[in-house]
Amino acid sequence: MKRVLIIGATSGIGRELAVRYIEMGYCVGVAGRRVEELIKLHELAVDRVFYEKIDVTQQDAAEKLMLLIDKMQGMDLFILCSGIGYQNISLDIEIEMKTAVTNVNGFIRMVTAAFHYFTNHEDGHIAVISSVAGTKGLGVAPAYSATKRFQNNYIESLEQLANMKGYNIHFTDIRPGFVDTPLLAKDKYPMLMNVEYVAEKIISAIKKKKKVAIIDWKYAIIVFFWRLIPRFIWTRISVKN
Ligand SMILES: NC(=O)c1ccc[n+]([C@@H]2O[C@H](COP(=O)([O-])OP(=O)(O)OC[C@H]3O[C@@H](n4cnc5c(N)ncnc54)[C@H](OP(=O)(O)O)[C@@H]3O)[C@@H](O)[C@H]2O)c1
Repeated sequence: MKRVLIIGATSGIGRELAVRYIEMGYCVGVAGRRVEELIKLHELAVDRVFYEKIDVTQQDAAEKLMLLIDKMQGMDLFILCSGIGYQNISLDIEIEMKTAVTNVNGFIRMVTAAFHYFTNHEDGHIAVISSVAGTKGLGVAPAYSATKRFQNNYIESLEQLANMKGYNIHFTDIRPGFVDTPLLAKDKYPMLMNVEYVAEKIISAIKKKKKVAIIDWKYAIIVFFWRLIPRFIWTRISVKN
């Protein structure tokens, strides 16, 4: 039985992925801060869904990740879905800092722990949900867009490191456009994709061991042209909802 561990499985994309992998018969480990949501997932298949309360911003998160892996008797696929994001044109420092602590510190803590785990095993696969928001700096969400760019580069770095060391670890950087989840509930967004559709695309990208997956094709076209916009033009564009 394949074993997948999902951090940030209590809501949105992570929850949908967890439900799908449970339906596909995987052994599934789920984590997040809301235990009541983790228990609901556990109850879908008590013999092969395991959970652990993990807050990625806390020092003990890597230790708790190992406890969850032990409960699952190993891990083949690690998916990091935890993340927060806000529009913040007032540059509220609390929002900027907590976004960095979750999406950068928490991200590093979790992916390095998964990396170390897989270096001691025959092979493994690390998939992370970053975002198309990392393509360029976004004036409406500076910390969010910058942390997503950080995630893109960090995963690329780990892939190079794994190759340098001869480790058989696969990496998939998943970059969705706008998805209809609680993360975006506070504001209105165009081109919203539903979470079921996005989860299906993510599972397919992971199965194909894609290195980078922009979801979906419409966003892939947007990102292609977006990258071509020179900085002196981009920084003069007013990006608002
Ligand atoms: N929605 C979009 O349009 C969109 C687009 C591109 C990328 N993404 C990315 O996709 C990922 C999932 O987002 P979503 O849209 O599914 O949002 P969501 O529904 O708000 O889910 C976020 C998940 O992250 C977990 N999380 C947040 N802080 C955490 C912490 N400190 N420790 C552990 N878990 C934590 C939450 O669990 P608890 O609260 O239980 O801890 C929850 O399960 C994020 O990284 C987001 O940036 C989203």
